[in-house]
Amino acid sequence: MEAIAKAHTNIALIKYWGKRDETLFLPMNSSLSITLDRFYTTTAVQFCSCLNKDVFLLNGQIASEAETMKIVAFLDHVRNIAGKNMYAIVNSVNKVPTAAGFASSASGFAALAAAATKAIGMDTDNKTLSQIARQGSGSACRSIYGGYVEWQKGEEVDGSDSFAKPISDKQDWNLSVLSCLVASNEKKVLSREGMKRTVETSPFYKGWLDTVEKDLVQAKRAIAERDFEMLGTVVEANALKMHATTLGANPPFMYWQSATLEVMEHVQQLRTSGIEAYFTIDAGPNVKVICHQKDEQAVLEHLATLPSVQNVYLCHPGPGISYLPDTA
Ligand code: PMV
Repeated sequence: MEAIAKAHTNIALIKYWGKRDETLFLPMNSSLSITLDRFYTTTAVQFCSCLNKDVFLLNGQIASEAETMKIVAFLDHVRNIAGKNMYAIVNSVNKVPTAAGFASSASGFAALAAAATKAIGMDTDNKTLSQIARQGSGSACRSIYGGYVEWQKGEEVDGSDSFAKPISDKQDWNLSVLSCLVASNEKKVLSREGMKRTVETSPFYKGWLDTVEKDLVQAKRAIAERDFEMLGTVVEANALKMHATTLGANPPFMYWQSATLEVMEHVQQLRTSGIEAYFTIDAGPNVKVICHQKDEQAVLEHLATLPSVQNVYLCHPGPGISYLPDTA
């Protein structure tokens, strides 16, 4: 009863921000992402009646109590669906610079969903897998698929229509995503907590909800028409709006640091100098910059010279989940 799966991270172009149901991980709004080729998680799951509790190894070491609790809760969910009662050893290796603040929860829970369901003997299609992954971390439901992926928020209270799917066509638009790691040592507000606080207290959250579905329509149209300017404009504006909601929360918080602003400013300068580049930022200080592939070297060289940038990782659209041979 063992299976190994691999899943890649994704970066949201139109953000998922806020839950309407905390337990089922149902989002307030639909979202859109690109799965990235460069960062991924490989997870092996083995269920065994010989175990008396779940064991979670992260990058070769026994994980902390807090991390293990999340995995146990997720495995409980899988055990429930499968109607089986065995414990598991979960061995997860992240090819994501997690310590540097790049989120690995999307690839982590997507890989765990795929490996755990297979190991426990379920024959799961990608739609079901996306729904299961969602309940580990919302954005994980998008990492089941490669390329450009939409997570439809759904309407049902049981979450049965809340899952991701690839946007139907134009999957081969090979844009570049430069992930900029900025100098940072601040502990961030976790996305789960940040969303909750924003939904409950920020007067700006209504403004977010009133406009995000329109942003999504525009982003999808831009991808369908290969209109990079239209895509970049709405992606950047959508990220700024999401972060604006955090400033209105009580107590207020912000994910940006001075280094974040420096990169944002330089991206805007690049545009003034004729290079089409746009930024987006998730729940942390690092900045992701999108541009045409023809410009990626120029943008990379420019960003890498900034004093506040520690590293720039060049990424492109990547694949969805895959299963590895058990001997890997
Ligand atoms: O899935 P979570 O809980 O890691 O939340 C992700 C939130 C954002 O990264 C800010 C936006 C998104 O859509 O990925």
